[in-house]
Amino acid sequence: MTFSAPAKLNLALDVLSPRPDGYHELLTVMQTADLCDIVTVLPSRDGEPRAVSNRPELPADGSNLALAAALLFRENTGFPAYMPSVLLRKHIPAGAGLGGGSADAAAVLRGLRRESGADISDKLLLSWAAELGSDVPFCLFGGTQLAGGRGELLTPLPPLPDCFIVICCPGIAVRTGAAFARLDNTERRRKPDISGLCEALRKGDLALAARYMCNVFDDCPGAAQSHAKTAKSRLARGGALGASMSGSGSAVFGVFADCRAACAACAALRREYAQTYLCRPVPARRPESRG
Ligand code: C5P
Repeated sequence: MTFSAPAKLNLALDVLSPRPDGYHELLTVMQTADLCDIVTVLPSRDGEPRAVSNRPELPADGSNLALAAALLFRENTGFPAYMPSVLLRKHIPAGAGLGGGSADAAAVLRGLRRESGADISDKLLLSWAAELGSDVPFCLFGGTQLAGGRGELLTPLPPLPDCFIVICCPGIAVRTGAAFARLDNTERRRKPDISGLCEALRKGDLALAARYMCNVFDDCPGAAQSHAKTAKSRLARGGALGASMSGSGSAVFGVFADCRAACAACAALRREYAQTYLCRPVPARRPESRG
């Protein structure tokens, strides 16, 4: 059973108050982009669940989110009947704020529901997704959505108008928990206007939406931020309508209306940052709930 797992971007991200459970309240507009991992769920050879991938640094045990998703689905439904392992062909850079692990886990939940034919409501699947991680619920159906709470309270938004997205990763892995802790001790200089972005999306105005792209993590001191500053100004000089960091970093993305400008900016940035990709937005998947 092989499933595709597209990356997520935060078009805008504001972090509000810390919560007693160790998380932070946030308000963010999330978007899927067609930079995809490929996830296969298959029977374990020796009855031990395992995650195998082209990135040896990723965990092979149940702390791997894709494997955790397969085990959670099996525990709740009895499907698949065999003990699952997962094979991950990773293309989404890790520790980049692109939700790679979350995308993989969501693809497993979505794919196993389809393959099993089980009558599992979207609401139930979303609750399993939230158990796995804050970004997994968004990644289940993707598209363009407003997320609140710790990321699991979702409201669909009108799609980002058709465009080209250049994603640039400086190859620095950021640990999300540590980045949130650093943010708590950082004086904020920017306040993302999330409702302005939602309004621009409602108008279907790409240029206006791009002007609202903003991420509070851009204010944190760190190596990822200094690369982000350089990459953002190069994207802007290359004709991006807007550019921002995704998640807690380290990836930066720029949004272009013009295909040629996007291709040229991608090629130029790739000379310095090998992990630079030309992508397109992915529309929301239709919920498949029969429940
Ligand atoms: O939910 P997830 O496992 O992706 O979160 C990783 C870490 O990021 C959390 O342990 C927490 O430190 C931080 N986080 C947060 N507030 C959020 C989401 C994540 O503080 N809304």
